[in-house]
Amino acid sequence: MRAWGVGLPRPPYDAAVSRIGILTGGGDCPGLNAAIRGFVARAHGRHGAEVAGILDGWDGLMEGRVRTLDRDAVRGLLQRGGTILGTSRRDPYVHGEGAGSVAETVAREGLDALVVIGGDGTLRTAARLVEEGVPVVGIPKSIDNDIAGTDVTIGFDTAVQIATEAIDRITTTAESHDRVMVVEVMGRTQGWIATHAGMAAGADAILVPETPYDLAQVAAVVRGRASRGHRYSVVVVAEGVAPPAGASVVAPVDAFGFERLGGVAAVVAARLEELTGFEARVTVLGHVQRGGVPTARDRVLATRFGIHAADLAVEGRTGRMVALRADVVTDVSLTEWVSTPRAIPDDQYDAARACFD
Ligand code: F6P
Repeated sequence: MRAWGVGLPRPPYDAAVSRIGILTGGGDCPGLNAAIRGFVARAHGRHGAEVAGILDGWDGLMEGRVRTLDRDAVRGLLQRGGTILGTSRRDPYVHGEGAGSVAETVAREGLDALVVIGGDGTLRTAARLVEEGVPVVGIPKSIDNDIAGTDVTIGFDTAVQIATEAIDRITTTAESHDRVMVVEVMGRTQGWIATHAGMAAGADAILVPETPYDLAQVAAVVRGRASRGHRYSVVVVAEGVAPPAGASVVAPVDAFGFERLGGVAAVVAARLEELTGFEARVTVLGHVQRGGVPTARDRVLATRFGIHAADLAVEGRTGRMVALRADVVTDVSLTEWVSTPRAIPDDQYDAARACFD
């Protein structure tokens, strides 16, 4: 029978770990705070471990900026967007000397394990640290949902919800004005948000980085719809698609050497206007997809991931990444999985494509 209540017995094993660090790295997303809360509730509240919250991602680990987190420090966090710990795109292997530049903080803080909540870049760094002997547990987060080994990452569901609502709203303007509306969503190398939000909102075409596209075919869809009386179309474009032949989009590089994508929808729209004769307008959703209140699904996922990460860290089972597989929270080898990008499966893109007409 299921046990219930705050008086749950402590786990039957002797906790191998008494002080655990936790950090958030890379781009923020909804659900990070819920994961921190779940982790602290379990690691501190249940297992009695001390938790050191490391500020501003790898930056705080390299520079020794740490804040103690207990159960009270993480109250009221389920609904809160962003990350109370802060984040950054600095990386010990790019801006420091790898494991050497985090060793001092790990030793000074007496960290027996480190929980890293991150996307592909942050988790790749975490995997390198594991190879150098740093005991790390990973939690996958990214609105892009592009991390292999898990069915879904924290933040994706909220981003899809936000993008879907935006596309729904844009569709009514498309219809009222007989326009082609091109909506650019995030997705650097994989078109998860584009495919799911586009499918949910009934987009007439979806362009994703992993599948080559032909704007002549998109224009044919727009004209075909018009010939049947639907004189408007909505086209969803992932920010990471290649520009149409002959066009270019310059992505400035930020202070950490990270390309700032955005703008490809403008060239797609200009080309569609030429090809169809319909006025084409652009909306770039940008960071609105990453901000604010997480969906219930993301809060639940983040809480479950945080709890599982706490159990792994306390048991000394490091080198693992928490994962959701067939709705079960489990863990996989961090080093094995992080190097494989996770493309949108054909059957999902095909389901969206089946309705393009
Ligand atoms: O990796 C997640 C992501 O949201 C990408 O989709 C996007 O290109 C990038 O972050 C933007 O990052 P930043 O806010 O650092 O410019």
